Amino acid sequence: MKLWLDGGLQDIGTARVSVFDHGLTVGDGIFETVKAVHGRPFALTRHLDRLTRSARGLGLPDPDLDEVRRACTAVLDANPMPLGRLRITYTGGHGPLGSDRGEHGPTLVVALGESGRRPDTTAVITVPWTRNERGAVTGLKTTSYAENVVALARAREQGASEALFGNTVGQLCEGTGSNVFVVLDGEIHTPPLASGCLAGVTRALVVEWTGARETDLPLDVLQHADEIFLTSTLRDVQAVSRVDDRQLPGAPGPVTAKAMRVFDEHAADDLDP
Ligand SMILES: Cc1ncc(COP(=O)(O)O)c(C=O)c1O
Repeated sequence: MKLWLDGGLQDIGTARVSVFDHGLTVGDGIFETVKAVHGRPFALTRHLDRLTRSARGLGLPDPDLDEVRRACTAVLDANPMPLGRLRITYTGGHGPLGSDRGEHGPTLVVALGESGRRPDTTAVITVPWTRNERGAVTGLKTTSYAENVVALARAREQGASEALFGNTVGQLCEGTGSNVFVVLDGEIHTPPLASGCLAGVTRALVVEWTGARETDLPLDVLQHADEIFLTSTLRDVQAVSRVDDRQLPGAPGPVTAKAMRVFDEHAADDLDP
C-alpha cells in the first residue's frame, strides 16, 4: 500500500511524520473522507472546497488543491480496489508541545483504506453529550474527533452504528460522522447548519436532489418521526430501523426509499456533482 506524504508517494510501512506534529499533539488539523468507487473519487470538488473552508477556519494556510488532487489520483492509481475510503489529512505540522503553532508549515497526508457497502438500514442511539453550536471550530471538519470516538463506542456497546447528538439548546444536530434527516407528514427535514452540524457533502446533495427542508427540530422528534435516515460519504442515504428503544419496523419507509433511489440515480449520472 502507498500513501502520499511530503510531496510524493511513500510506502505505508516506512512513511513517517514527526512525533511533534501538531495534529498528533493537540489535534490541530482537518480532514476529508472521500468515497472512491473503482478508483474514482465522488464529489471531490465539494470535498476540496470544504477542506479549504476548514483550513481557513483553523487559520491554516490554504491547502494546495492541485497537489491534493495529484495526491488523490496517485494514491488511487497505486492501490486499486472496488470501494475505497480516501482520507485527506492536513495538519498544523511539526510544532511546539503547547497550543501555539510552529513555523514548519503544514503536513499533508492522503491515504486509502478499503471499504464495504453499507447495509440499507441501521440502528442509532442518542447520547447525553451535546454538540456546541457556538464553538470556535463549529462546522469545521477537524481531526479533534475524540468526542465522536467516545459517542460511537457507546453506540457500538448498544448494538448501534451511530450516535446522534443534540446541541446546547436541545435541538437535533447530527451524528458522530453523519447528518440526520426525519420525515414528518411526508416531508423531509434536516437540522440547519446553525444547529452546529457539519455541512455534509451528502447532506447538501440530498437537500438539492429531494427538496428536503432545513428546519429547527427538537431532539425528541426522533421519538415520533415517521421515518429517519442518515447521510454521509460512506453511508450515502441509510435508513434508521431503531433509535434507542424505538423500533421503526418498516425501514426504509417509502420517503426514505425514494431518497435512496434518487441519490443513487444522480450519483451514477455525475461523479463530481
Ligand atoms: C461530524 C460529521 N457530521 C456529518 C458528516 C457527514 O458529512 P459527509 O456527507 O460530507 O460525509 C461527517 C462526515 O463524515 C462528520 O464527520
